[in-house]
Amino acid sequence: MDIRLLRSSDIPHVQQANITNLPENYFCKYYLYHALSWPQLSYVAVDVSRPPKSPYDPPKIVGYVLAKMEEEPTDGVQHGHITSLSVMRTHRRLGLAEKLMKQSQRAMAETYGAHYVSLHVRVSNHAALHLYRDTLGFTNDKVEAKYYADGEDAYSMKMDLSKYRLQLEDSEEDDDAMDVGSAGKKGDGEPKKDGKKKRKVKVGRGLGVGDLVERNESKPAS
Ligand code: ACO
Repeated sequence: MDIRLLRSSDIPHVQQANITNLPENYFCKYYLYHALSWPQLSYVAVDVSRPPKSPYDPPKIVGYVLAKMEEEPTDGVQHGHITSLSVMRTHRRLGLAEKLMKQSQRAMAETYGAHYVSLHVRVSNHAALHLYRDTLGFTNDKVEAKYYADGEDAYSMKMDLSKYRLQLEDSEEDDDAMDVGSAGKKGDGEPKKDGKKKRKVKVGRGLGVGDLVERNESKPAS
């Protein structure tokens, strides 16, 4: 099973999974809006156990999480929101929903500095409530009466993301500690100027760029 970021080309298949699993459905453009506005937050689970027969075979999407950042948070606190989550019946109870949720939550904290993540769930949805409350650690914020089109109430739930934010800060501190040489200078000889943390990124040969550098063919090979 492959869990990877949602691509625009996945959208019709994700929409199909959504229609199969949930009564709350969306236009394609709403999925696209998520994918283009917050490309780090939505994921799909793809069954790769049977290789495609041709390059034109669509990926077998068996689960997805569609997520966004709240654009105008009423409490003024930067936070993410799970728009929709589902896993195909054939692939349930394998831990896919938990993995999809955790990937998205981590990305909300790391990419957008989200403080918490919110969602709505039907009060009768025991499987999803188990996942959110018992497995992931969401808490009930309030009940929103008649939230759904058929009149059912929703639990409005929240989960704090400081765990992910702290992990990120710790890893940045580790990077910094490794970067500072014995004389208190950066490993590459560059002193730390403004106290701001710097992140190491891979460039050059590691990414294959070295192979793309133009060679001077006029000189004989040594
Ligand atoms: N009854 C009780 N517990 C369940 C059930 C169930 N039917 N299904 C999953 N769980 C528990 C698992 O046992 C596991 O608990 P554990 O950590 O104690 O082992 C936990 O939930 C996570 O299980 P996963 O295998 O990760 O969940 P799964 O991949 O099966 O997906 C989901 C769960 C998404 C709720 C799935 O049942 C589904 O797609 N349902 C229909 C669509 C749906 O209801 N989506 C959520 C709507 S709310 C929203 O979209 C914001």
